[in-house]
Amino acid sequence: MNITFLGPSPARSGVIVVFAGQGGQLAPRAQGLDSRSSGAITRAIKAAAFSGKRDQSLDILAPGGKLSRVVVFGLGDTAKLHPLDLEMLGGGIAGTLQSMKIAEAAVVTDFPEAVGRPEQCAAWLASGARLRVYEFSRYKSRRTNGGQLTALAFHTTSPAQARKAFVALDAVAEGVHLARDLVNEPPNRLFPVDFANRARDLGRNGLKVEILTPSQMHKLGMGALLGVAQGSAQEPRLVIMRWNGGRRTDQPLAFIGKGVTFDTGGISIKPAAGMEDMKGDMGGAACVTGLMLALARRKAKVNAIGAIGLVENMPGGNAQRPGDVVKSMSGQTIAVLNTDAEGRLVLADVLWYVQRRFKPRFMIDLATLTGAIVVALGKEHAGLFSNDDELVQRLSAAGLATGEKVWRMPLTPEYDKLIDSDVADMKNIGGRNAGSIIAAQFIQRFVNGVPWAHLDIAGTAFDGARTAINQSWAPGWGVRLLNRLVAEHYES
Ligand code: BES
Ligand code: MN
Ligand code: ZN
Repeated sequence: MNITFLGPSPARSGVIVVFAGQGGQLAPRAQGLDSRSSGAITRAIKAAAFSGKRDQSLDILAPGGKLSRVVVFGLGDTAKLHPLDLEMLGGGIAGTLQSMKIAEAAVVTDFPEAVGRPEQCAAWLASGARLRVYEFSRYKSRRTNGGQLTALAFHTTSPAQARKAFVALDAVAEGVHLARDLVNEPPNRLFPVDFANRARDLGRNGLKVEILTPSQMHKLGMGALLGVAQGSAQEPRLVIMRWNGGRRTDQPLAFIGKGVTFDTGGISIKPAAGMEDMKGDMGGAACVTGLMLALARRKAKVNAIGAIGLVENMPGGNAQRPGDVVKSMSGQTIAVLNTDAEGRLVLADVLWYVQRRFKPRFMIDLATLTGAIVVALGKEHAGLFSNDDELVQRLSAAGLATGEKVWRMPLTPEYDKLIDSDVADMKNIGGRNAGSIIAAQFIQRFVNGVPWAHLDIAGTAFDGARTAINQSWAPGWGVRLLNRLVAEHYES
């Protein structure tokens, strides 16, 4: 879809989108359009008893002159409109136009000053529209729906500034779309090596990308990650993406993702029902990759590392067995009592590698780690575990601002004790209770006191409620959250 920003008044033809506040009161620049069409818009608003509530729209056909359609969108109480609401509104507009099979439309962006600067408002709307029109149709012989909305023009009093404001938002949307693509890919089309190749392609955008092979990981002593991979015919990879947009001396921020391209459970195999969803078990890695693309495309003034552990968890003839003991890169040994608790084994080695090599300012890992977090929080919040209150506060605020919400969960020594083992330094599962906390405690044993946050995104990385800005099975969750965190607090 082609997005443009033009001067305040649209051509008097085609499809025009305008806004109305509470009571159906037209925004000022829409009133001009109304008088030029002899009051047809206000008459339609009255006739339909359109009240201008949020998420309501009124479609007026052939109101006069060469106009084919005017669609009025309700804003509700404009005092309560935040940037996220404007993105949602932009998404709602795009969705409505798509369902009307409209190819091109002009949007008269006109909001009270208190909502935001005109260029920002136009850019937020455009961002929402961009996020909405995503479609994953690679494997469809025929396009079904979507794709027909090809051009949206946003009319504003400051088009040049709007174009500028949109650059960063567009970069983030690209990162979100990449994350969605990666999660949506079928598991036989995105093995660890394929994922690594997709990451390598991002070198074009100025990222430095390194890819470690199994023999390199073996030399580094990554027995935990390699143990997971050994049941699969597909080789694992560890990918390091680097964006150096900050000062040379700035400590990097580190983002680490679980990238299990398919999780059968291994020898502790999962039940058949719903197993297909486990193609999304690389949602953490997809988010990190999308984030790195977003940071590079908007040239963020920050140094950031994205590290993703890519493996396939399969029950092959060489698969690890329940009871196996593996040695992690940290030197700590792990009794693998359940091969389906594999994500934490992958993260253990990646977290250790990243802190040793890069001395990051903080580490944030994302992982579709436990079914238990879905039981606890559903699909509305990701679980947040952290040893750093400032990071918790900042992530929580970024969650509210982006709609990618997080909820803090506890970490304490009593939970940590539950993974002590008789035969090794620890075991990879605890009892039946507090499954998500136990997983986080396990990971914390590889954090070594570095400021750290762990996001358990098993409930949010795929198959959540569709929203105005996401209609895909894979929402690309976390890219906007972490981009916001970086932009608000860490750019020099
Ligand atoms: N990838 C799964 C967790 C998961 C479940 C993600 C549902 C998304 C939706 C993870 O590897 C796993 O299998 N966890 C086990 C841990 C258990 C064996 C301690 C689980 O949650 O059952
Ligand atoms: Mn598993
Ligand atoms: Zn898994």
